[in-house]
Amino acid sequence: MEFTGAHILSINQFERADIERIFAVADSMEPYALRRKVTRVLEGAILGNMFFEPSTRTRVSFGAAFNLLGGEVRETTGFESSAIAKGESLYDTARVLSGYSDVICMRHPMSGSVAEFAEASRVPVLNGGDGSNEHPTQALLDLYTIRQELFDKGRNIDGLRIAMIGDLKHGRTVHSLCKLLCLFNNIQVTLVSPNELAMPENVVDMLREAGHEVIISDDLTRGISSVDIAYSTRIQEERFSSKDEADLYRGRFRLNQSIYTKFCEPNTVIMHPLPRDSREDANELDNDLNQNPNLAIFRQADNGVLVRMALFALVLDVVDQVDKYSRDVNWYSGR
Ligand code: CP
Repeated sequence: MEFTGAHILSINQFERADIERIFAVADSMEPYALRRKVTRVLEGAILGNMFFEPSTRTRVSFGAAFNLLGGEVRETTGFESSAIAKGESLYDTARVLSGYSDVICMRHPMSGSVAEFAEASRVPVLNGGDGSNEHPTQALLDLYTIRQELFDKGRNIDGLRIAMIGDLKHGRTVHSLCKLLCLFNNIQVTLVSPNELAMPENVVDMLREAGHEVIISDDLTRGISSVDIAYSTRIQEERFSSKDEADLYRGRFRLNQSIYTKFCEPNTVIMHPLPRDSREDANELDNDLNQNPNLAIFRQADNGVLVRMALFALVLDVVDQVDKYSRDVNWYSGR
């Protein structure tokens, strides 16, 4: 695909070569993400970071990635602090904010809303999550992490065995990740969820059409027994009609060290897009896994900066200029 000026809205827009390009650029961002070097390549550029749903990682890592490339960030968080609360349309908001920004990142609770906004925007828009539809940049950082974790074990993405666990109906990260895996070969995907929270059929069909083996289960211990990656997800309480309904499923698929030791292969990598629900009645990834070297959740979150830096550099067409505007850091960097 042509990255320059493109919106990043869905995994459907990528081919495998595009993913390899993004990952190669993400690799090249490491000295900047680790604060060994500084670049000012986006000096003067402005990111409009618009988050109409709660976020820690996506919002802050988009902002940090833009800052690390030398750009500035303007944020809107929550409907109540935006004129949308006064009835302004997405069209008008997009026309106005794209006049103030060089690129916009947006999260919104309605599926399809970020694409609608992008149609009216005069600058590239990156989808930070639209309802239960997609979270493409999360899927990219997830796959980047999988690639890194497998590489350390002498493997690559083709031939991967992965279990996705939890609320697969509402979890936009797993929808996007499944679509992304369709670009690779010979993947075995085990989908572990209560029947009511199963992966949407169109996503399952897509995996099968790509030639992948799909196993559907509601048994956590069997589901995680022969996989390279156990990818846990949160019950997406905000997508249920009531908290009581979400409570029916909360805590159903808890993974802790003793279950891991008993049922997983020795080097199974544990992933989660985060936030993990660590309340006592959920505890979907127990704190007793925190010292497990195969718990990759914080490496995964760190990788969000690299992948988002790569996307900004590609979309704003500065990949070849990043080093030209760089210097060593002045301060102590303990990373
Ligand atoms: N993974 C993710 O989207 O986290 P946030 O909701 O904190 O952005």
